[in-house]
Amino acid sequence: MEHHPKQPERGRRHFLKRLLLGSMGIAAAALLYPLLRFTGFTVKPKPRYIIVRKDIAVGGSYTEHDFILFMFEHGPMAVSRRCTHLGCRVNHRKELDLIECPCHQSRFTLAGERISGPAEKNLPVYPVRILEDENGKVNGYEVTI
Ligand code: FES
Repeated sequence: MEHHPKQPERGRRHFLKRLLLGSMGIAAAALLYPLLRFTGFTVKPKPRYIIVRKDIAVGGSYTEHDFILFMFEHGPMAVSRRCTHLGCRVNHRKELDLIECPCHQSRFTLAGERISGPAEKNLPVYPVRILEDENGKVNGYEVTI
């Protein structure tokens, strides 16, 4: 049987080469991650489609976990419940005809426009699709968040 004295040496070199490449990859990721975060690079999350099985009358509303769906004269509108200040869940204050954050009392119109408080931005608004049955009667809404 023939003996190959160089065989283990080649294996060790190959292993060291891979180890070095792996370390360089980790170092590059460690350097790039803060840089990408600093430049504001983000991966957009996939949209979620939420079905609300109701027929909301004009002037009415429906509160979901992530949004409030209002029915205005011109149609439905879904406003995010995530406060643009620090992210608390906002509430529809029907008696005041506005949206208010329970944490630091930022206030918004029913269309999500900022009125007052520490929040500086409007609440995001989500697209709404009206759903109808086979007779053309409204039987729900699809909100894309
Ligand atoms: S989190 Fe809403 S006002 Fe501060």
